[in-house]
Amino acid sequence: MKRPVVLIIRDPALRNQLANGLRRAGRDVTARANAEGWSALVEAQGGCALIAGDDLADGDNVLLVRRARRLAGEISAFAISPDASGNFLATDHDGSPLSAASPAELAAMLSARLDDEENAGLARSAPAAAAAEAGLPAAVAETEWVSRLSGSTPSMKRLLDTIGVVAPTDSTVLIQGESGTGKDLLARLIHERSRRRAMPLIEVHCGAIPPNLMESELFGHEKGAFTGAQMRKPGLCMAADGGTLFLDEIGELPLDMQVKLLRVLQSGWLRPIGATHAVKVDLRVIAATNRDLKEEVRAGRFRLDLFFRLNVISLEVPALRDRADDIPELVAQITAGLARKGIAQANFSAEVLQALREYSWPGNVRELENMIERLLLLYPHGQVPPEELRRQLGEGSIDLGPGGAAASGGAAGATPAPGGAEMTLRELEEMHIRRVLRNCGGNKTRAAQVLGINVKTLYNKMKLAGMRREEFQPARAVAVAEDGINESCRG
Ligand SMILES: Nc1ncnc2c1ncn2[C@@H]1O[C@H](COP(=O)(O)OP(=O)(O)OP(=O)(O)O)[C@@H](O)[C@H]1O
Ligand SMILES: [Mg+2]
Repeated sequence: MKRPVVLIIRDPALRNQLANGLRRAGRDVTARANAEGWSALVEAQGGCALIAGDDLADGDNVLLVRRARRLAGEISAFAISPDASGNFLATDHDGSPLSAASPAELAAMLSARLDDEENAGLARSAPAAAAAEAGLPAAVAETEWVSRLSGSTPSMKRLLDTIGVVAPTDSTVLIQGESGTGKDLLARLIHERSRRRAMPLIEVHCGAIPPNLMESELFGHEKGAFTGAQMRKPGLCMAADGGTLFLDEIGELPLDMQVKLLRVLQSGWLRPIGATHAVKVDLRVIAATNRDLKEEVRAGRFRLDLFFRLNVISLEVPALRDRADDIPELVAQITAGLARKGIAQANFSAEVLQALREYSWPGNVRELENMIERLLLLYPHGQVPPEELRRQLGEGSIDLGPGGAAASGGAAGATPAPGGAEMTLRELEEMHIRRVLRNCGGNKTRAAQVLGINVKTLYNKMKLAGMRREEFQPARAVAVAEDGINESCRG
């Protein structure tokens, strides 16, 4: 059966030509000049094709196509736009375009494409597609989710319980916690457990985008909107339409962007740079920060109104030192993960586990992961001499000063920074060189690569610091697979 077509194009001439062409090809066409009420039309027609032009006053055709797919599953949907040489392009949701020289030719091509799909039985009815979407294997998703996030101390259990309740809603979530506590992991899990899991999760590292590009990255721009804007670009918010926008390190967002973001979050509409009309986006927002956002508000660096808008559901991820009971479980998960990467799986002694529990972990789970990998490379059987463990814990850590978790506060006997509380740059450099050399099993060429300097510079630095080459001869680490060592050196 030939499916009916919903055609939404503002330009009357193009609309009529396309509608007539499609009707001649035997299709029932409902033509409209604007997008209002399009979803009801598509739903009423079930399994139809949607064709939208790029001249709509009340919507963006690319977004319409994506929304139609979301609403009605495997509906055939095309966005029409002119290309540089004046041809008409019809692009489907996958982005593969049909190109034609005239509206009549485009109508014929679209019709043939719809015929092909129908003959191949590709076009499922809307209810069937919706059912398939609703029937996502939730049970599978759940076990994956629980198994990846370790932690059974009361604070982690509370967090997991809250996520279980919050994830399926559309509420905005603000995740706060020290660096390395698992904020990224949590954001991904919330998305995976939401009804948006089939739609994109777009992660934005607010601190990594240059301020002058921030607006165009987030909201997109039209072709020619500014020097260098050679193509129209949709922006990350549009890419997340229907899914989740994860704003990582939200505390780094410049104040002027905070105002613009707030407007979008409140209204659901955004205006790409240079665009004459706003477009509607459907976003669930998760924001994360390792700064104290309330403190940022007090200091005038973060807007109070945006803070309230984000802080609908507030999740605090506990620091690892406050849930030391989770360490054995985390260590087991990390070693199992490393074993999958080809690094020996070992059982650490009770003494080692105790020392790991007593350490302060300023870098939290990320630091624990790195430490376990390093220990396994150096001691593939897990027999770490207590002295060496103390040294590793002392040297691998960073003193975050007051307010942070001071590494020297670790009860495992972490060595204080040489020269008192503050370490000179030279001392820090020496410590880092020693660590990398050890991780690279004494291989100077590899260590120099990791450090980003040439071997000669490395030898000079070693000489200056009084390090002896024999100190870093590959000892037990040589027993480890070559690529295992490389992996460690790279990380
Ligand atoms: N509860 C946990 N169970 C298992 N692995 C975890 C857990 N928490 C964190 N991790 C792991 O620790 C590492 C750091 O986590 P993540 O990147 O999510 O931290 P973060 O809080 O976003 O850090 P940052 O503030 O530096 O961005 C990741 O490899 C992650 O998989
Ligand atoms: Mg993070």
